[in-house]
Amino acid sequence: MGVPFIAGNWKMNKTIREAVDFTNQLRNLIAELDDREVVIAPPFTALYPVAEALKGSNIHLSAQNLSDKAEGAYTGEVSARMLVDAGCRYVIIGHSERRNLFGEKDAVINAKIKIALASGLKPIFCVGETLEEREEDSTFSVIERQIKEGLNNLNRDDIRRLVIAYEPVWAIGTGKTATPEQAQEIHAFIRHLMDATYGEHMAGDIPIIYGGSVNPKNISVLMAERDINGVLVGGASLDIDSFIQIIKF
Ligand code: 13P
Repeated sequence: MGVPFIAGNWKMNKTIREAVDFTNQLRNLIAELDDREVVIAPPFTALYPVAEALKGSNIHLSAQNLSDKAEGAYTGEVSARMLVDAGCRYVIIGHSERRNLFGEKDAVINAKIKIALASGLKPIFCVGETLEEREEDSTFSVIERQIKEGLNNLNRDDIRRLVIAYEPVWAIGTGKTATPEQAQEIHAFIRHLMDATYGEHMAGDIPIIYGGSVNPKNISVLMAERDINGVLVGGASLDIDSFIQIIKF
């Protein structure tokens, strides 16, 4: 497995100026750091200015969403090609806020993953169960369905370009982190599932990262788990001090 993958999902926060100021601080503060893959996911409006501010650094840019259509009369949508043009390397797909607040189903998520890959973007593919699903013991079957349907008809080369994020919905923005053991259990399950579906040792190449109330205090214990290869940070990635502490755990 490569270096720890640390991504900040800013969700619907920061103006262009705020995003660029943050980016300038970030690149100065981690200029010497070469043993992390650091990714930031600003809102659409700030992508291009942030890409400009990142030029020459080893921090990468991600979008938070994309259209499942290539181009055309889809008012309000943003295509994969536009994201590549704006300087993105990654795109978050299947985030629980997209699934639950905007009704995205597995089939749409699958289409988004395919168009992202075909355009040269690397998907950060999110899966995770709700509290209700955990309480009724369906965590494993929910994750398995999300993975099988989200990755339907992808080949091994496609799979190698993914990052998978396990984000238990009950841990997002709630201050309630999964325990390292709870997260490790699901990460190991995902790794086995990927190996069983796509061939042995396949999953070894895919970063499986954890998201849900990650902060400077819990980062080290999470990262100490065998199958946790990085984190997708929401709230704590908006503040430069806490994001830096997480990156430098
Ligand atoms: P929080 O870190 O705010 O819980 O958000 C997690 C998340 O949804 C990252 O994508």
